[in-house]
Amino acid sequence: MGVFTLSNARKFFAILGGLYVGAIVLLTIPYFQTHTLFLHAVKFPLFADFDMPEKYGLAPNKTINLKINTPDNETLGAWFVLSDPFYHSLPAIPTQPSELIPTTLKKNPTILFFHGNAATRAFNARIQIYTALSSRLSANVLAIDYRGYGDSTGTPTQPGVARDARAAWNWLIQNGATPDQILIVGHSLGTAVSSLLAAELSDESISPRGLVLMSPFSSIAKVLETYSIFGFLPLIKPLAMLPWAVKLLMSTVIHKFETDTLIPRIKGPVLIAHAENDWEIPYSHSQALFDAFLDPILPPSPELPTNAASLSQEQWSQYMEQLNIRKEKREQAVTSVELYNFGTIHEATLSGRKVVFLHTLAGGHDYLGVQEGVHDVIGRTFGFFRH
Ligand SMILES: *[C@@H]1O[C@H](CO)[C@@H](O)[C@H](O)[C@H]1NC(C)=O
Ligand SMILES: *[C@@H]1O[C@H](CO)[C@@H](O)[C@H](O)[C@H]1NC(C)=O
Repeated sequence: MGVFTLSNARKFFAILGGLYVGAIVLLTIPYFQTHTLFLHAVKFPLFADFDMPEKYGLAPNKTINLKINTPDNETLGAWFVLSDPFYHSLPAIPTQPSELIPTTLKKNPTILFFHGNAATRAFNARIQIYTALSSRLSANVLAIDYRGYGDSTGTPTQPGVARDARAAWNWLIQNGATPDQILIVGHSLGTAVSSLLAAELSDESISPRGLVLMSPFSSIAKVLETYSIFGFLPLIKPLAMLPWAVKLLMSTVIHKFETDTLIPRIKGPVLIAHAENDWEIPYSHSQALFDAFLDPILPPSPELPTNAASLSQEQWSQYMEQLNIRKEKREQAVTSVELYNFGTIHEATLSGRKVVFLHTLAGGHDYLGVQEGVHDVIGRTFGFFRH
């Protein structure tokens, strides 16, 4: 071990800087970018027994391991979890659970779940979500692993995972579900996939029960701007000293996942949920998405001229007045209710459907979907508690 001298310190930071620039350059190479974004090679839990969901905590024969084929010949691993009230209504543990799928699809609502990047459908935080949704919301759950994840074939791409989502939707319909009984729920990267599916279905005038975006992001470019490694090492900030490098990185984004631009196409009821203590994707992303839903009913945002410093008093007060009108309109359109110790619900009725933004105090990035309060807001928003 050498003595920690000034010259050693300089060397250390030079190496760190070099590694950083190297990492950024790697990100511009499609192969590395695809792996960094999707993290599909991170197959947690390792060597999973997908045909043994019981091993990960699900009740005996409550979950059916199955394969779904896509039109472009990929095979997706998936789990179908029976709703608890249905499972409990059976006289005994079913011996052929797969044969019950058409019956439960007719009797109970189904949640089509799209997970975030990295790991597989057997990942612990995800199992907790299936358990909660099948019990507290009495729903069936279909959870797929996109192409390249888990035991699915292929390599993920934006159009590829969108096709996977549609194949899962079609599978539910072919097995007897009706669109109004299917709630699409996405988490993190899965919110981008869910939004692509919801927009596609809206274009075809197909109306699912609704869309839930848990811990979403507005686009990959904006994630790059706000992403921090472990919440404190801003990834792009050091790049601000090298504006050309920011431009280079942004221009090489392949899988753009621009959910913000899909919003005008999405027609049904929507719930956006985000935790304040999400250190991976800040909840400003959800605020931006909620604002994008509100945008069509608000007067246009006034633009501040670039020569703002030389604005006359009159121009300035005109600008402020327009801003205030927009703010008042927004306040009229949105009802906000604070839930003590839990969070705040903002709700608006836009083109005849509900758009809700739930902003919670806790849950972080991965455990928002296991919060009971979140399940209840989903249940109330999408009519799961009708008696
Ligand atoms: C899928 O596989 C079938 C049979 O192997 C083949 O006929 C078809 O052309 C393939 N389709 C695509 C899109 O690759
Ligand atoms: C669970 O289902 C399998 C077939 O899918 C069957 O062989 C097995 O007996 C069932 N388990 C129980 C406890 O009934």
